Amino acid sequence: MRTVSPSTLTETLLGLSSADTDPRVQEVLGALVRHLHAFAKEVGLTHAEWRKGLELLTRAGEITDDDRNEFVLFSDVLGLSSLVDMINSPAGCTSSSVLGPFHQLGAPEVPVGGDLIGTNEGDQVVVEGTVRDQSGAPISGAVIELWQTAENGLYSGQDPRQEHYNLRMSMTTGADGRYAVSTVRPAPYMVPTDGPVGDILRATGRHAWRPSHLHFIVQAKGFRTLVTEVFPSDDPYLDEDAVFGVRSDLVMEYRPGNRAELAQDIVARDRLNDSFSKVDFDFVLPPG
Ligand SMILES: [Fe+2]
Repeated sequence: MRTVSPSTLTETLLGLSSADTDPRVQEVLGALVRHLHAFAKEVGLTHAEWRKGLELLTRAGEITDDDRNEFVLFSDVLGLSSLVDMINSPAGCTSSSVLGPFHQLGAPEVPVGGDLIGTNEGDQVVVEGTVRDQSGAPISGAVIELWQTAENGLYSGQDPRQEHYNLRMSMTTGADGRYAVSTVRPAPYMVPTDGPVGDILRATGRHAWRPSHLHFIVQAKGFRTLVTEVFPSDDPYLDEDAVFGVRSDLVMEYRPGNRAELAQDIVARDRLNDSFSKVDFDFVLPPG
């Protein structure tokens, strides 16, 4: 090891692993070390730059708490979260997309056709669709979680003026696999820029905006859980999402709604305003 050099250090380090190292650990950590060393050699990393990187990670740890994870945000803005999503999205199924930091456990159960508008201001919309398997058959008993921003671009939990579970729900499909809910249109928002991730965005001249979206988690017995988000087709940030979450199959059309065409179980049917929109969006789950 006394003769270690830039050209031999990587293989020397990888050779230290014991023979009983888990093969997948060996593969993942080995590739990480090789790419990390190659990165340092490629850019000729200076001591000052190395310290700056460690300082960014240290600050990410300091700013992370139960409500905010700066490491997830790092992963998001560097495209790693979306890359992992795309690598693990089977063809022919609804694409997965970033979970984001604002999901909360325990959202209230709402029956199919239920209402989230309540006292929320904003454009009203009825979102409806079916949870299906890859053959097109409806999935009974699928549990759909939905969470979104209010009209001001804030989630409950970020905004003391919103009730704890405002614009959040859990809904279970019946035998027809159908879900339906009335809500308000979500708003674009910026990811937090007061931490080290904000420094990276500013240093590279990037903005922090995300297009508006509805977050979903869809779970059903015998199927792989889907974590995703869907975006209105007319959002101004659709093609410049700061965290790369948009996929073409996750874009939904907001069409003018027609009250006469709404199903009877839409509980807000008779109190929707005349300019409400309708969205039809199905979820296709891969087998578990
Ligand atoms: Fe979000």
